[in-house]
Amino acid sequence: MKEVYENDLHIIYVDNEKELGKLVASEIIEEVIKKPDTVLGLATGSSPIPVYKELSKLYGDKAVDFSKVRTFNLDEYVGISYDNENSYHKFMYDNLFDNINMDEENINIPDPKSEDEKELKEICRKYDEKIKELGIDLQILGMGVNGHIAFNEPNNVRANTSIVKLKEETIKANARFFEDEKDVPRYAMSMGLKQILSSKKIIAIISGKSKKDAFERLLKQETVTDEFPISFLKLHNNTKIYVLI
Ligand code: GLP
Repeated sequence: MKEVYENDLHIIYVDNEKELGKLVASEIIEEVIKKPDTVLGLATGSSPIPVYKELSKLYGDKAVDFSKVRTFNLDEYVGISYDNENSYHKFMYDNLFDNINMDEENINIPDPKSEDEKELKEICRKYDEKIKELGIDLQILGMGVNGHIAFNEPNNVRANTSIVKLKEETIKANARFFEDEKDVPRYAMSMGLKQILSSKKIIAIISGKSKKDAFERLLKQETVTDEFPISFLKLHNNTKIYVLI
């Protein structure tokens, strides 16, 4: 592990997935012990899996109680059934919620279940309203190969939670989980930057060789631009970035 401050970023380089899982999980547990009804923002994807494994283990060891913790997930595909292997609902239950004692009532996952544009807008608005009411204490983030956060894609960064179209490179990157690239949904509901940056603390995880170029760009780039969504983290003054590349 090596901790550095570089170009406005607080970076922790870790050596392996186990270390990543342990360090990030211990930051989460610290919050939950301090405030049992902590509001966590949660991410899907392969990057946070070691963290969810460690949290599940710690719960098994009776080191933490999640019964009062509230959660908001970042995103969900549009047009996918929630028992589909690739839905983010299923991901969260398989990797975390089924292993710990969360109260079902306290779990919030974007739920873009409508074909009607107006209704979808209303679903997004209500999601933001609830985030505003509860406030997020700690947001866990991953990053896409093109620097996206949640599903805020390059040149389409949204202020508020919205229905967004996925970029070709994201569809390709996420195709590894689907039988065929054509099965990857083209739209998703994604939390906006206003909600993400409203979190008191952010932990971003940049993991995997495919993220090397984007990470180097984040280190070098001084501007904040919607061409490169992760650059918005530079606007937040309590962000840590865990890197395993
Ligand atoms: C998806 C999600 C993001 C996630 C990104 C990286 O596109 N919408 O929230 O951060 O993938 O995923 P992975 O960690 O699998 O590389």
